[in-house]
Amino acid sequence: MQISLQPIDPFSAPSDALIVPVLQFGGAPDFDVITQPELRSQLAQLVADADFTGKAGSTLLVQTMGLIPPRRLVLAGAGDREKLTAEGVRKAWGSAVTKARDAGAKQVVSLLPPSSEGLSGAAALAEAVAAAALATYRFTAYQGTVKNEKPVKEIDALTFAGEGEGLADQIARGEAVAAAVNLARDVTNEPGSDLPPMAFAAAASQVAEEHGLEITIYDANALQEMGANAILAVGKGSANPPCMIHMVYRPEGATDSTPSLGLVGKCITFDTGGYSIKPADGMGEMKGDMGGGAAVLGVMAALKAAGVQAVVHAVICSAENKISGEAFLPGDVIRGMNGVTMEIISTDAEGRLVMADGLVYLARQGVREMVDISTLTGAKIIALGNETVALFANNDDLADRILGASEYAAEPMWRLPLSEHLESQIEAEIADIKNTGGRAGGSITAALFLQHFSEGLPWAHLDIAGSNRSTKSTAYAPKGSNGVMVRTLLEYLRRSGG
Ligand code: BES
Ligand code: MN
Ligand code: ZN
Repeated sequence: MQISLQPIDPFSAPSDALIVPVLQFGGAPDFDVITQPELRSQLAQLVADADFTGKAGSTLLVQTMGLIPPRRLVLAGAGDREKLTAEGVRKAWGSAVTKARDAGAKQVVSLLPPSSEGLSGAAALAEAVAAAALATYRFTAYQGTVKNEKPVKEIDALTFAGEGEGLADQIARGEAVAAAVNLARDVTNEPGSDLPPMAFAAAASQVAEEHGLEITIYDANALQEMGANAILAVGKGSANPPCMIHMVYRPEGATDSTPSLGLVGKCITFDTGGYSIKPADGMGEMKGDMGGGAAVLGVMAALKAAGVQAVVHAVICSAENKISGEAFLPGDVIRGMNGVTMEIISTDAEGRLVMADGLVYLARQGVREMVDISTLTGAKIIALGNETVALFANNDDLADRILGASEYAAEPMWRLPLSEHLESQIEAEIADIKNTGGRAGGSITAALFLQHFSEGLPWAHLDIAGSNRSTKSTAYAPKGSNGVMVRTLLEYLRRSGG
């Protein structure tokens, strides 16, 4: 789908579908954007009959029957006129573009999105573009001859009608954000066997090359030299060796005093549980246990387009948690890079182990603060449900910036406490700490474990277990891997740089 901006009159240019945003005013749809009196009065009747109110994400498809050159109108509900939000715009364009596509439209024209005091026209356009590209995402890499028999419906061109300073840049920005989320979706949808750690690293190299990022890949030998014993232990049971990926983004004109921020992602390309093996039911979902690393990779691909003004260090800790004669064992003790020793109670609590090495390595890069993102605990799903992401932080200012970003991105998040009194649950018998703390407060004890590797820096931990896959389609995310937190982290970095 080609997305562009052109100074055309949308009501007189021919198209297969014209997207018309409709805001609500006092609960009723408001047709201010439609100026032709005849069209306006006919629509008013249709809309009343169809009970279309303009609620954000609702749509109404109308055939124009030769009244105007566009063959169809897609009315796109964008929510309350008085309380216009970025999410209202995203829902409107996500739903409308999907509707136009499913109706078979190839050439789609759209009016520009509405703006308000709180949401500039430029920002609204970037959000509309991103939502359009996110809504039409498909993962087709593995479709064979059976599914390919039906031709898939695709929009060829989405043209926004209008002009204005910098608006074309907003299209590029929206597309870059969507491409970043879709990259995270792609690698997460990929089967575990087809994207083991070193293949993930190769994909990261490609991203680095395409976007001008520095990259260093530490293979098993390099991890040994570095003392990254925890990543090595988790990866030991697999024929596919583990690795750590370090990427760096430097904004144009960066100097030694440019603030530098750090991200760490859990990238277990498959989690069988190891000798503490998982039940067979649903184990296939563990191909998504690299969702943290996927989000970090996606973010790195869009930093420049999003205009992030900070240096960003990204560390992706990758291993396959499997079973063999070499695999690590319950009862083993691992010495972390900062000297903290970890007693293994369960080989299935592997995420916190690889992240321990990643955090200590990142802290040594001189970053001002660190955010880690991990599909860490089933207990998080029990506490907050699948969708809502758990945030833990040892610093309120950092926590507030992340919460603010998640609110803008409309990716639900809730802060949980780093309850000191639960620390006793992870005291180990023969080492400093143990890698499980029992069922009570399971997400909290996992976060407390990670805190031992935060090296005194402001640090936040995002537990995205269950959040990076949706079982239902939404306005701009088809069901399946959803690339959660890419947009939140981009917004957090944008707000924290410079
Ligand atoms: N990758 C899992 C967590 C997970 C569970 C992610 C469900 C997504 C959906 C993690 O490695 C794990 O196995 N955690 C264990 C920890 C336990 C052994 C302390 C868990 O949550 O059961
Ligand atoms: Mn596990
Ligand atoms: Zn895991």
